[in-house]
Amino acid sequence: MCGIVGYTGFQDAYDIVINGLRRLEYRGYDSAGIVLEDGNNKLEVEKTKGKVDDLVRISENLKGTSKIGMGHTRWATHGVPSDRNSHPHLSNNDKIALVHNGIIENYDTIKTMLTEKGFTFKSETDTEVLVNLIQYFMDLNTETDFPTAVRYALNEVYGAYAITVMHEDYPGVLVVGRLGSPLAIGIGEKEYFIASDASPFVEFTKEAIYLEEGHMATISLENGVDIRTISENSKIEPEIQELKLSLEQIEKGGYEHFMLKEIFEQPKSVHDTMRGRLLVDEGVIKMAGIWDHIEKFKNANRIIIIACGTSWHAGLIGEYLIEEYARIPVEVEYASEFRYRNPIITDKDVVIAISQSGETADTMAALKLAKEKGAFIYGICNVVDSSIARITDAGSYTHAGPEIGVASTKAFTAQLTILTLIAFKLGKHNGNLGNADFMSLIAELEAIPKRIEDVLSSTHELVQNIAKDFVNATNFLYLGRGYNYPAALEGALKLKEISYIHAEGYPAAEMKHGPIALIDENMPIVIIAPKRGHYDKIVSNVQEIKARKGKVIAVVNKGDTQVSAMADYVIEIPETSECFSPIVASVPLQLLAYYIAVYRGANVDQPRNLAKSVTVE
Ligand code: AGP
Ligand code: GLU
Repeated sequence: MCGIVGYTGFQDAYDIVINGLRRLEYRGYDSAGIVLEDGNNKLEVEKTKGKVDDLVRISENLKGTSKIGMGHTRWATHGVPSDRNSHPHLSNNDKIALVHNGIIENYDTIKTMLTEKGFTFKSETDTEVLVNLIQYFMDLNTETDFPTAVRYALNEVYGAYAITVMHEDYPGVLVVGRLGSPLAIGIGEKEYFIASDASPFVEFTKEAIYLEEGHMATISLENGVDIRTISENSKIEPEIQELKLSLEQIEKGGYEHFMLKEIFEQPKSVHDTMRGRLLVDEGVIKMAGIWDHIEKFKNANRIIIIACGTSWHAGLIGEYLIEEYARIPVEVEYASEFRYRNPIITDKDVVIAISQSGETADTMAALKLAKEKGAFIYGICNVVDSSIARITDAGSYTHAGPEIGVASTKAFTAQLTILTLIAFKLGKHNGNLGNADFMSLIAELEAIPKRIEDVLSSTHELVQNIAKDFVNATNFLYLGRGYNYPAALEGALKLKEISYIHAEGYPAAEMKHGPIALIDENMPIVIIAPKRGHYDKIVSNVQEIKARKGKVIAVVNKGDTQVSAMADYVIEIPETSECFSPIVASVPLQLLAYYIAVYRGANVDQPRNLAKSVTVE
């Protein structure tokens, strides 16, 4: 959620910070700010509610003035989005500047203490408390140096944070710390970069340190990177990693939006997810994470899948897959509910966490709880080295490549691909999936990227035309059965996230238990009705809708006649085994949501109120 960028070196800090903030825009934010050291050891702050472009308008005069600085995009948690509440925040003596992602949970108590000592506050944020607490420790004992004061302050706060701090009496120095929110340090030649993820600095360096939980670092041109534990001040040897990310991977590549680019990348991303894992000629699925812990899965009482949002929808499809092919009981939980309802978990349970970002606070908190209770934790994440990826016992990366659009598309189909591989692998191993079926399923899976490619080319134009007719819709229903019920939920989520049209997903048969009351000639209903998957039942559902004059947009298999004859709009997808149909059917639904949103003039890549990684509970 939101972002931090910092720089110290020999280049113009303004350009690096501003361009870095632009790279982090995808994370979702409401305000932006920058602080630079003006050459006379004075801190210059500019900040504003709005976008990075708004910040540039008020701060361009700072260009070329400094070689050290930091910037922030804020996603408000404490205090409305406003100029005053934007970061960086300065300490009362104007000497210390701080940017912060996350929440300081005990800020109120500290604020009271500081107020009693005479400190005043300009904003409503929790963050401003932290920067003044650092000043407080430096004032308390003039021997206390800047990094030590930051460490003292961090030992007093709890919650979640990634912070970067500058002090005007410490030229060239940045102090960073992390607990619960991500932070990476890029190591260049005589220069250092700080960012919430590596995308702001990939063009400058391929070497990075991912700061660990509970660690802080003092970064200076003179002494390099000094990492310490926040609690004990113990020195930590930095672990420098080679970045795999390329600049091209994080740019739009000719598409109007990242979301469209990512929808079109799916033949490749699904293929990449399977690469090296699905070996059809040898008749095997290689997944070290599963294989190394196969006894855990074999002896599991049940598998609990924990996730939020789109990843939760993938989890629901995972339940259908694993129960059908491996016959292991599966429960799917919203991370936020699981965490707070005192769940029964034992060391016989396997927990699978699904998270594109690997930073979702709700999922993280649920995992910590499951871990405490002794469950074995398996992660399915897209972002390598993310917080969730690190705390799991084992896992599989989805390898879909960076997903920049806030609305998840290619990460979802990659999650489905991994879950399919897991279900087939476990089923084959425990004998519930016979060899002949296994072989034919994996051959079909290998061809899914080609199926997605076909769907993209055959439906792209058609879906654009359909979208034009629904620009003014105020409601949508999405219906599906079996594997396609979660696909309907996901279709509805995509539409509401980016077009702001209210949309509900339902199991098609549930319609008659309530939502049918909503149907009239103004209600568009997207119905996923592939041949293999309770087709006859769906035919009846479509009849029920048409009897009430609902407008049907049907996603059917090529050559379909029955549903197509009744539908107002028909989108054809290739016929597959039922378990693969959510992957293929999701593609036109993503396109439909995308084009309706574009025609409504919405900000597709950064929808209002949403953030790419939700690092608050
Ligand atoms: C996806 O389109 C959403 N923006 C959101 O529901 C997302 O899937 C959810 O916040 C979970 O994120 P994660 O996969 O990074 O954990
Ligand atoms: N809690 C801080 C605020 O509301 C930081 C929010 C963020 O992560 O951007 O200002």
